[in-house]
Amino acid sequence: MSRKLTNAEPLSLSEVKNHLRTRVVGHPLVYFRELTSTNQMAKLLAEKLPREGTTIIAERQTEGRGRLNRKWVSPSGGLWFSIVLRPKVQARHLPKLTLMASVAVAKTLRRLYGLRAEIKWPNDVLVNGKKVCGILTEAETKGESAEFAVVGIGLNANFDLMVLPKSLESSSTTLRNELKREIRREVLLGSLLDEIESLNESFSKEHFDRLLDQWRSLAGMIGASVEVRVDGEKVQGQAVDIDQDGALILRLKDDVTRTVSFGDLTVTKLAISR
Ligand code: BTN
Repeated sequence: MSRKLTNAEPLSLSEVKNHLRTRVVGHPLVYFRELTSTNQMAKLLAEKLPREGTTIIAERQTEGRGRLNRKWVSPSGGLWFSIVLRPKVQARHLPKLTLMASVAVAKTLRRLYGLRAEIKWPNDVLVNGKKVCGILTEAETKGESAEFAVVGIGLNANFDLMVLPKSLESSSTTLRNELKREIRREVLLGSLLDEIESLNESFSKEHFDRLLDQWRSLAGMIGASVEVRVDGEKVQGQAVDIDQDGALILRLKDDVTRTVSFGDLTVTKLAISR
């Protein structure tokens, strides 16, 4: 018997709108059956339209973009979307939008589905140790100030893991795989946009401490032994915390502390208990 690998039913925009309680985020919501990349389209629109909140969703992406110039495989059944934000903060704060989005995703997955979703620095959300969501924030700045940022969120929702390339199968999961059922993507998207609007209001008021505290409470790898690959170098140590800018603080051998702003993290030994 053949398994249904992807959800063929297109997203219902009117159902998303029924779940949406926002004033800014998700207005307008623009839906495409297929796009190269929702981030790319959101950036084009942000350059032309002065408004904040425009949200682009695509059923599939043909050139979905991941971090560090990687490709992001985006079959139908996933939830691929990008939001244009214009927080009135200095440009140096914009990378924290990725932390904000990861908090929104982890909180929403916990609340809607009771999943133990955890954040993995810098921008992944995991369920049972496997990646269910990636976030890519791209920003346009003018000197010290932020023009706009595009927060792109890729959530593996209703497709079978077999759709992903073999190299990703063992490290990834989908909501359908974890819950053994399909979810209503409309409910998930509406709830996520609500959560992002509320966190973004706090972000615009520069309440970064609140955000970082929420991030810490959802981060799975604090206390664990980790290896971070930074520009070809491998840094091993214990993940201790994140700093005010969202950089990871590591305790290396001999109690030396090192802070890394970007890189690929692998947990080598879990924390004993948290
Ligand atoms: C990563 O983990 O490397 C980040 C992946 C981000 C993927 C999302 S899907 C929606 C948006 N459009 C893109 O092209 N990328 C982001």
